[in-house]
Amino acid sequence: MSKFWSPLVSQLKPYVPGEQPKMQRLVKLNTNENPYGPSPRVLEAIRAQLDERLRLYPDPESEQLRSVIAGYHGVSPEQVFVGNGSDEVLAHIFQALLKQDRPILFPDITYSFYPVYCGLYGVESRLVPLTEDFGIDPRDYQVPNGGIIFPNPNAPTGRALPLADIERVVSGNPDSVVVVDEAYVDFGAESAITLVNRYPNLLVSQTLSKARSLAGLRIGLAIGHRDLIEALNRVKNSFNSYPLDRLAQAGAIAAFEDEAWFNETRQRVMDERERVTTAMKPMGFEVLPSSANFIFARHGTLSGAELALRLRERGIIVRHFDKPRIDNFLRITIGTVDQNDELLQALESLVG
Ligand SMILES: Cc1ncc(COP(=O)(O)O)c(C=O)c1O
Repeated sequence: MSKFWSPLVSQLKPYVPGEQPKMQRLVKLNTNENPYGPSPRVLEAIRAQLDERLRLYPDPESEQLRSVIAGYHGVSPEQVFVGNGSDEVLAHIFQALLKQDRPILFPDITYSFYPVYCGLYGVESRLVPLTEDFGIDPRDYQVPNGGIIFPNPNAPTGRALPLADIERVVSGNPDSVVVVDEAYVDFGAESAITLVNRYPNLLVSQTLSKARSLAGLRIGLAIGHRDLIEALNRVKNSFNSYPLDRLAQAGAIAAFEDEAWFNETRQRVMDERERVTTAMKPMGFEVLPSSANFIFARHGTLSGAELALRLRERGIIVRHFDKPRIDNFLRITIGTVDQNDELLQALESLVG
């Protein structure tokens, strides 16, 4: 606290990202990164940018990247927005589209950055409880609102909503913007991008941090009606004209051009997710059905806090949220086969 802080800053409750430990030899399963590296073609494309052109500003509109993304998803470049990680894209969405006269709706258990953006931009919100089994019921979103946002699959539960249910929310709220945050969609859920040309109130955000293994490069995107994208561009160009640097733009383009790598690595993560889930159930864990690169699980007798601590003592870091309804759960990122084996052995020794 300082007398120099603005009243807004004094009141902020910032997001706390998962730990990035400095210690070597840790099994790091706490921030939903991809255990496999990015495509070698991405690294090659970035290396090809490492010359004196770094003295120049990058393309402020990321035109080439936006047109590659547009081609990939079958939309026009004017329907694509890119930003410095989807966290930045989401921040612009809150400021440009979700700050309305009525409260916006999001689930009580969801990505914990949403309430932080509300605090930063003065957006009123109302929490919609997940169902008993931690699902989203589209009927709960048929009430007056200033906008709606939820991840699909949801985080940290990993549960996905079928496309028909998403369409129900979007078509039932024609006067509100509905934002579907698809950070984890490539691990087994259906993308709502196929609906954007039919619904001018639908905006879908995605990231290259997860299935394309580029969390360190910071690339996020949003796809929707060109009027929604124009709103985001107005905020972006009032904030930072160059959110994606030269290396990020080149790397991101190469990532979309290596479909084989994308498919192979995400399939490996999905296969491992099923193996870990199947192995944990007989140990007394309830594991929610996941369509993401992580699982959300609780044990019948051991508390979430206790388990997280004991795993940490064994050099394995997972995420534990000390929040109502989910304080006994652990969110565990799917790692490499060896990392998952270490996790399963440690869990076996703790609960056995
Ligand atoms: C649901 C959800 N949305 C968005 C993000 C942000 O991802 P990034 O800023 O790396 O694109 C995350 C990161 O973990 C997430 O879990």
